[in-house]
Amino acid sequence: MAAAAGSAFQVPANGKYDFDTTYNRFGSHSTKFDQQIRVYGKGSVDVGMGIADIDFKAAPCITDALSARMKHENWGYLDMGEATPMMTEAIAAWNKKHYGIDIDPNTMVLSAGVHPGLIAALITFSPKGSRVLLQTPTYNGFYSDLAFSQTKAEDVPLKFVGGKFAMDFEEFEKRIAHDTHTFILCNPQNPTGNCWSAEDLTKIGEICLRHRVIVLSDEIHCDWIGKGQKYTPFASLPNKAIVNNSLTFKAASKSFGLAAHKLAWFHSTNPDLLARVKVNHRADLNTMGIVANQAAITQGDEWLRQANEYVDGTHDMVVNYISDKIPMLKVHRAQGTYLTWLDVTAVAEKINSKQLAADYNKSKAANMPNLTPEQMVERFFVKNAKVHLNSGTGYGTGGANHMRMNIGTSRKLVETALNNMASACKSASTNTNLF
Ligand SMILES: Cc1ncc(COP(=O)(O)O)c(C=O)c1O
Repeated sequence: MAAAAGSAFQVPANGKYDFDTTYNRFGSHSTKFDQQIRVYGKGSVDVGMGIADIDFKAAPCITDALSARMKHENWGYLDMGEATPMMTEAIAAWNKKHYGIDIDPNTMVLSAGVHPGLIAALITFSPKGSRVLLQTPTYNGFYSDLAFSQTKAEDVPLKFVGGKFAMDFEEFEKRIAHDTHTFILCNPQNPTGNCWSAEDLTKIGEICLRHRVIVLSDEIHCDWIGKGQKYTPFASLPNKAIVNNSLTFKAASKSFGLAAHKLAWFHSTNPDLLARVKVNHRADLNTMGIVANQAAITQGDEWLRQANEYVDGTHDMVVNYISDKIPMLKVHRAQGTYLTWLDVTAVAEKINSKQLAADYNKSKAANMPNLTPEQMVERFFVKNAKVHLNSGTGYGTGGANHMRMNIGTSRKLVETALNNMASACKSASTNTNLF
């Protein structure tokens, strides 16, 4: 499965990967671009900035490995007895090299995504109807995992102090009830981009341990870290009792743009927790997913380092642009991820998004879902800027008046989006027609 050595797909001659050339994803059945066209109509969206994947052309080592495997034109069942240790050893080596953490490959379980792993863990530890702690705003997909496991969200809002998001430890502890058995931690945090410190993680870990709440640490965004920031794996905390009370869920899909290849993993130092989750978890993996992921994590370091540097610079560009030219938006500098969490309160007020939503919900066809004020702001940017952002609606408490903007794309496209959004904001009014 190794990539053919020395092929044309390897490192560019000048050693610099190209993230500047806009890579056209229209017509590839992509959620980020094509789904928005399906929803809003042909020609309606120029820049998709919603779902969390990157628009960059894949690292050459990935294309190289996939192309090599393509040449063997048979797609029969994969020998997982061979593929599993190959992957888990590569994942352990990646984690050791990048984060200095030792993960025993035998404590790792491959999965078809972070979602299937999380759902299996929720089904295992949190009975139907029981509460799951979330720190909000948080990744909207967690709510679908709760729906799947028929559990209930207990939103604990993050605090915003001194221009930064922070955990509210006191409130978190207060919200733990007799039927709270799990907490989904997001580290680094989607959508705020926060990287939690060892101190944060230890404090929250201690609370969970004290109350017998198992920590499900989703660290899928861990490879996108800004300059001067640090990702601390939950499993690297020095307090072993805290670590033994957790499972970590990860993938290389955010790191290398491999979401459609369906491969992720989870691990725990606690064999009992792991064994219990495994009973509720089945992963049917695919050959190309294994090939792509193995190539990425064994050969993709330099590509990812450069991609990180590029996105980090784009974060600065976005913050500067918005601060200088779009007074109706507020943004704080994310520490990691390629996500930007925007406060759109002024836009919502200017277009009277509450009234727009109320009017729409009164007159809509009975079979259509209600829309929220944030979804009106989402429509506003599609209709007036041809930019699709994710509405804050699904991100739990704290999502009101917010939008998530994905900047994992060429700076040219980000600039187009910002220019369009700036003029849309300038001409925003209560007469905006969104339908
Ligand atoms: C925090 C977080 N967890 C999980 C996922 C989805 O993971 P997967 O595609 O591996 O199921 C995402 C995707 O956006 C995410 O942001």
